[in-house]
Amino acid sequence: MGMKTEKTVRELAVENPHATRVFEKFGIDYCCGGGRPLSAACIEKGVLVQEVERAISEGVTAEVNRLAPQDWAQNELSELIDHITATHHVYVRQETVRIQQLLAKVAGKHGSKHPEVIRVQEVFSALSAELTSHLMKEENILFPYIVQLEKATATGLPKPRPMFGSVKSPIHMMELEHASAGEALRSLREDSNNYTAPDDACATFQASYLALQAFEADLHQHIHLENNILFPKAIALENSGPAV
Ligand SMILES: [Fe+2]
Ligand SMILES: [Fe+2]
Repeated sequence: MGMKTEKTVRELAVENPHATRVFEKFGIDYCCGGGRPLSAACIEKGVLVQEVERAISEGVTAEVNRLAPQDWAQNELSELIDHITATHHVYVRQETVRIQQLLAKVAGKHGSKHPEVIRVQEVFSALSAELTSHLMKEENILFPYIVQLEKATATGLPKPRPMFGSVKSPIHMMELEHASAGEALRSLREDSNNYTAPDDACATFQASYLALQAFEADLHQHIHLENNILFPKAIALENSGPAV
């Protein structure tokens, strides 16, 4: 891999699935803030661009996690949608419930001594509610339309005519909601001191911060697959072929 400083973070994340792991490690935003050149993102984070490039080219991963990086840019959109739904949507639904239970316990027990955990609980509850509605919109409106669109294009049938006019409309709404989720994640990270539990933290406190950190990494990957791969390809598909 050659020098990549002129490429944007998003381009690197799309062309090399390992890059997203490296960006997680260095705290570089690749899902909603991926439009910047890597060099600019590195300056903002105070890290050496060479170090990030080396990590990407060596395929270095910060930690082993359950996400197997795959080059989804090569798959059919219906396969990517199945993956997003079966992996990330299932995870969000399970973890929002579990983490809210953990945080309720921690806030109840330690909130007076560590008021920041009450703020973390509030922000995560609001994020959970937003995501619940967000996933439903994707699964019930946007994703089925993209699958139909891909099928029609592959078989040469007329493209479906959605109620919302162009696929760009729901995509724009989903991107705004992703940006809002990204903002909530930043706030959670800040309020939790980068997910560092205090010295006197009990096991539940520590477990809740560990779970939040894993949730952040999963949501970054999830939003990356949608914002940087699925959505641009869906727009390109809609624009392809004869107008109907
Ligand atoms: Fe999603
Ligand atoms: Fe989404």
